Amino acid sequence: MAEWSREERYRRVEDVDKKYLEHLKQQVEASRFRQTFHIQPETGLLNDPNGLIYHNGKYYVSHQWFPLGAVHGLKYWFNYTSDDLVTFEPQGAVLKPDTYYDSHGVYSGSAFEHEGDLYYIYTGNRRDAQWERYASQMIAKVENDGTITKFDKPVIASQPEGYTSHFRDPKVFELNGEYFVIIGAQTNDEQGRCLIYKTKDKQLKQWSFCGELETHLKNFGYMWECPDYFNLNSKDIILFSPQGIEAQGDRFRNIYQSGYLIGDIDFDTLSFEHGDFIELDNGFDFYAPQTFLDENGNRILIGWMGLPEINYPTDDEGWAHCLTIPRVLTIEDNQLRQRPFKGLEKLRKNKETALGYANKFNRKLHPYEGTQYELIIDILENDASEIYFELRTSKLNNTKIIYNTSEQKLTLDRTESGLLPDNVQDLTRSTILKSPLSQLQIFVDTSSIEIFCNDGERVLTSRIFPDENATGIETSTETGQVYLKFTKYELKDD
Ligand code: FRU
Repeated sequence: MAEWSREERYRRVEDVDKKYLEHLKQQVEASRFRQTFHIQPETGLLNDPNGLIYHNGKYYVSHQWFPLGAVHGLKYWFNYTSDDLVTFEPQGAVLKPDTYYDSHGVYSGSAFEHEGDLYYIYTGNRRDAQWERYASQMIAKVENDGTITKFDKPVIASQPEGYTSHFRDPKVFELNGEYFVIIGAQTNDEQGRCLIYKTKDKQLKQWSFCGELETHLKNFGYMWECPDYFNLNSKDIILFSPQGIEAQGDRFRNIYQSGYLIGDIDFDTLSFEHGDFIELDNGFDFYAPQTFLDENGNRILIGWMGLPEINYPTDDEGWAHCLTIPRVLTIEDNQLRQRPFKGLEKLRKNKETALGYANKFNRKLHPYEGTQYELIIDILENDASEIYFELRTSKLNNTKIIYNTSEQKLTLDRTESGLLPDNVQDLTRSTILKSPLSQLQIFVDTSSIEIFCNDGERVLTSRIFPDENATGIETSTETGQVYLKFTKYELKDD
């Protein structure tokens, strides 16, 4: 892809000719990799989910957006609303880089309700003439008619002493009648951290610095992006996206990670007793997730199905990335479980089921075709050494899910998935399951796959870019046989 100059990256969409924007839209619409049930950018680049909330009977889901191409440039928030978190109405750019403080990007942030009104808190990114970065935390009120009133100056003007200007991604939460905010930060000696502020001010203008969250992770990457805090079943959870962690065996294989710590936080001292950092997803493309409560009080997580600093096959078509499907979080055995959001069942069409054995001769269990579907595979008996599930297959393509029975290891193999993103280490991602594989629930869209193992014990999320005729579904084993039940639905909104 052609290099983008700084000037091109910081061009405002408002200054671009309408005809050119129309041309961009058409080019994107013509892409054979357009998704059908995932949120994706109309044009340009999507990254983090922002401002997730259920407010006054409606869901709000925004995302980081650079409208003019598949690069990280001047960021806006693009907003969607939804009645059910399954189908979404595009609302356009809701926060724009139009003040002194956010002149170089309306960066990530969250939504909250205060006295019945909807507010966004986000990072204003500003650069000076020497391209020095300044980060401040800003608040904007969403008026009843949908227009935005930004506070005239930041509520947190800059990072506290001892930290660099990598100070961003505020997430608000309420505790004992007070609002707190957790912010991603970097110490002057380049260690990732989370900082906490709070306010009692009804006008939301005065926030005081409480301090750094005291975790056991003192040397764990150079920056922690997109933190989130929530309490679930009386446990405190901090979720964040650390940068700069070395791979360790099957763990931490992507360029940046995202995961969580679970335990107990003392909000007076900010000390956090917690277990190991656990990755939320074991696939190739997952970053910067955020959570919120749905209308029934369930904790929902949505992530960015992509990563920074990687070139994707759609870049040349002027767009990149999508969000994941929503997942419902629960705690079981002191770990998070992630199950697909139930509401997605609304999209199910044309159910097909099949029951049968697969063995070392490649087997096509009926139903065996599809491009956008949900496939539930129940493993009823298994004496195979390895099971191979191949999806989106054609003569040239296949996306393999390999289960090694003795190691309880699940591997996603993208070697023959089609076009591949650049700058990604290796072609497989693996995870050892806690219990033998009993079920896979797989969501396949035109250019993605989300694999939920053992009822939400593990998830592997990846983009894939197969040929249009790669629609096959096949199963086989290395040795031995496996007895399976397939349940497949086409996923369609109509
Ligand atoms: C994470 C991130 C955030 C930042 C945003 C900018 O992907 O780098 O830290 O707010 O993206 O688009």
